Parts: sequence; C-alpha cells; structure tokens
Amino acid sequence: MARTKLIAANWKMNPTPPTALAEASRGEPYASSHDIDIVAFPCFLDLHQCIAHGLVVGAQCGRPEPSGAFTGDVSMQMLKEAGCSYVLCGHSERRKYHGETDAFIAEQVAAAMKVGLTPILCIGETDEERTRGEEFSVIKRQLTTVLSKLETQATQLVIAYEPIWAIGSGKTATPAEAQEMHAFIRSLLPENIRDTVRILYGGSVKSANAQEILRQPDIDGALVGGASLDPEEFRKIVGACH
Ligand code: PGA
Repeated sequence: MARTKLIAANWKMNPTPPTALAEASRGEPYASSHDIDIVAFPCFLDLHQCIAHGLVVGAQCGRPEPSGAFTGDVSMQMLKEAGCSYVLCGHSERRKYHGETDAFIAEQVAAAMKVGLTPILCIGETDEERTRGEEFSVIKRQLTTVLSKLETQATQLVIAYEPIWAIGSGKTATPAEAQEMHAFIRSLLPENIRDTVRILYGGSVKSANAQEILRQPDIDGALVGGASLDPEEFRKIVGACH
C-alpha cells in the first residue's frame, strides 16, 4: 500500500533559517506538495511566525498534562491550539538531557493523539548497544512500551528510527541496515496499522545519501537535523524523494 512520504526538518535549538520563511511563501522547499508531506520543527518561539508563513509545523516536545505546575513546559493541548500539526516524542536528545523515559514518552504519544496532533515517536539505539548486538531488543522495548499504553487505535502514529550514533555524527546506517531495522519495526506494529504507519529514518541524512535511504521499501521519509537548516541542501533531500 502506498504511504505518502514525509520529510521532517528538525531545527532543534537553532534559529529558523533566515531564508526559510521567504522560501516558504514561494512554496518550497519547506512547504508540502501533493505527493510529499513536509513539516518543520522550529523552536517554540518561532512557531507562530512559521505558521503565519504557511508552513506545516510541529513542536520538538510537549507535556502530556493539559495545564498545571510544570515550569518551562508547554502542553500538547497548547501546541494544538497554537496551530501545530505534529509533535516529536522521545527524541534521543530529550531522553538524554531531560531524562525522558519510555513510560513518559508513551504518555506524550497518547496525549498528542488525544488532542489531534500527529506524534512522531523517535526510537534508536546507542553505539554501545549496537556493538553488544542489542539494537533489536532496545528498539523492541522502546516501541512496545509505547504501543502497550495506547488506548485508542494508533492510526496517526509516525515512527522515526534514529540510531543515536548516527545523529549529528556524519555516520549513517547503511541503506540495508536501515531497511532491516525498519522492516523489524513494522513487524512489531499491530496488524491493523502495519501497512499504513510511516517509519522515517533519521541520523545524518543529507543530499548525498538521501536517495539511497529513501528508496528502501520500508523507509517512508526522513527526520533531518543539520542538513535541514540549509534550504538548498533540504531542497535536494526533498528532491530525492521523487
Ligand atoms: P542530524 O539530526 O540529521 O543532524 O543527524 C537528526 C535528528 O536529530 O533528528
């Protein structure tokens, strides 16, 4: 079954690329087209501006509770009301620097779906885990913890497989390694959503490797960090989707 490709630009804690907004109003490269979905993840402060320029945006994280005493946090409900369409859940930098656990990430995914945001659940193993041959068990644990906590059918769910050793390092999984893991992830999904859930690859995706990665049958797009800050580079990655 055909799944629409999704390319996500994760700008992390960087300013929105200066030309991104001007480019967006001309329709590219950060704007979705009829056959590719594109979403930008600016910092919270730039969300409104990006929405005003017609970008489809997501937040880089969100708190499950609708409101309350959580200093510094923004809730999923607030993100939805602000005009976000997507939210990243469990990015490895959130797991590392903010101590986010699988159980808490499961709460985020459930809360996002409840308010109508599309969660992109990020999973991935460390270098040490791969060296010990534990990559499949780590991925299984991360994914099944989330799936087991979902009360509703997870039809909106998007998954991003991002091996941690590939993020920002210039190293990527080979297309064959990535495809093997994506097929494994798909095999863990409940049957009713197995063919429809999009599974993105992330970790040092750039124009030079995008085409090989994106042509794998179980890879439905990319979560792009560093290379998404350069509109020309990002344009080529989107072009590789075609
Ligand atoms: P990278 O980041 O493309 O710079 O490796 C990807 C990510 O962290 O989502």
